[in-house]
Parts: sequence; structure tokens; C-alpha cells
Amino acid sequence: MVRAPLLRPVLLSALLAGSSPAALAPPAEPPGATLALPAPAAGPATLDGALKARRTLRELTGPALTLGEAAQLLWSAQGENRPGRRTVPSAHARYPLGLYLITEGSPTLAAGTYRYRPEVHALRKAGDKGVAGLLGPVQGMQPWITQAPSVFVVTGRPLKIFRRETAPTMDYTFWECGAASQALLLQAAALGLGAGTASGVDLGAVGAALGLPPEEKALVLLPVGRVKAGK
Ligand SMILES: Cc1cc2nc3c(=O)[nH]c(=O)nc-3n(C[C@H](O)[C@H](O)[C@H](O)COP(=O)(O)O)c2cc1C
Repeated sequence: MVRAPLLRPVLLSALLAGSSPAALAPPAEPPGATLALPAPAAGPATLDGALKARRTLRELTGPALTLGEAAQLLWSAQGENRPGRRTVPSAHARYPLGLYLITEGSPTLAAGTYRYRPEVHALRKAGDKGVAGLLGPVQGMQPWITQAPSVFVVTGRPLKIFRRETAPTMDYTFWECGAASQALLLQAAALGLGAGTASGVDLGAVGAALGLPPEEKALVLLPVGRVKAGK
């Protein structure tokens, strides 16, 4: 009874130090074409400028993301900024998030649904459906989302940090989803793109449309596009 509160700080400091860095194994994936992404490039925008510009924009228009823009946004949210470690912090470096891009297609990135592979900075094609095709049939989907030319979906799996925890928890996963989402939204602002956040939809149906395994949940949708003139 007395040991738990004494041990907890020790375990927590191990957690913060990242002494057990085994990342969650990526979910089993069916074979699919892999598309290499351009390396992230430093742009002229400042962090202050991006923070000032970020807002939820719901009137998003095409053209859909170029390969370079998609690469920059994916890397910002979940990319590696040094071997085995990512732009966004993660409890015990376990990385429970997944990141999908659904796009209507542009001359450099074909329409379809893709899953980001941070360890190789590449996209794996997960299906041919674009935004309207994949999200349109989801009951009660908000129209501004299906009208966006590209939509990112952050997904996550429960994360159990301590072996003695009885049930896996989504707490760490939700925390990390917020950090990854904000990183992507700030990068969108830095690139002069419009973006929004949405989780007030049937996320279970979104996960089913993406073909997620049972333990992986869709957590938030981040529509991205061009800002309509005057908005
Ligand atoms: C977790 C979360 C879920 C949200 N879900 C929706 C949504 O389903 N539909 C929507 O139009 N906006 C949604 N929003 C956007 C908020 O309405 C918006 O962030 C808020 O009004 C503040 O405006 P701002 O983002 O422009 O600063 C969501 C925001 C968050 C953080």
C-alpha cells in the first residue's frame, strides 16, 4: 500500500527520460504502393506569424495539396526530426498515433486515401477514394468537410505505460493527438493554407471507412485547402 506512491515518481521520471523507447509496432497493413515524400524544407514563415494566422476556416477550396505541401504537413504532425523520434512528444516514445491523408488529387499527388509512414517519410496508398468518396457516405458528415479538397485524419491506439495498469488508456493518445493536430495546423498557416478541426462527426464510421483495425480509432479530422478570396 505504501509502495505505490513512492514508486510512482521513479516510474514517472523513467517515463520522462524515455528510458523504454520501444515504439508501438505499426498496425499490420495490407501491401500497398509506397510513395516517397520530399524532405521537409524550412520556409520563410515565423512561428509567431503562424500562431497569429491560425484559425478554423470552413470554406476551403482546391486545388488539393501538392506532394510537397502534403509532405510538409505530414512531417510536422508525425515526422521524424531525428532517428526514431518525432516532431511531437510521446509518452515513453511509444507513438500511438496514425495519420491518414484523404485527397481529391493534384498534378503531383493522385486522388486517394494514404497512410503516413513516419519511419521512412513516405505515404502508403490505402485506397482510391478521395474526400467526397470516402467521407461523403458517412451519416451526418458536416458538408464543409466533404467539400474540402484534402482531409487529414489523426487516429490513435490505447497506450498502457505501466505494466500494472489494469486497462489500456486513451489519455496519452488524446494528449498526443492534440499536439500533432496543432503542429499540422500551424504548418498549414505557415504555408498560407486554410485548415480546420472537426471531431463532432461519427468518428466510428470514419474509422470504418478507413478500414482501421478494432483497437485503432479515428480521433479528429483536419480539412485543409486554399482560402477563398475575402475569407
Ligand atoms: C476537439 C475539437 C473538435 C472540433 N470539432 C469541430 C466540428 O466538429 N465542427 C466544426 O465546425 N468545428 C469544430 N471545431 C473547431 C472549433 O469550433 C473552433 O476551434 C473554435 O470555434 C475556435 O475557433 P478558432 O479555431 O478559429 O480559433 C473543433 C475544435 C476542436 C479543438
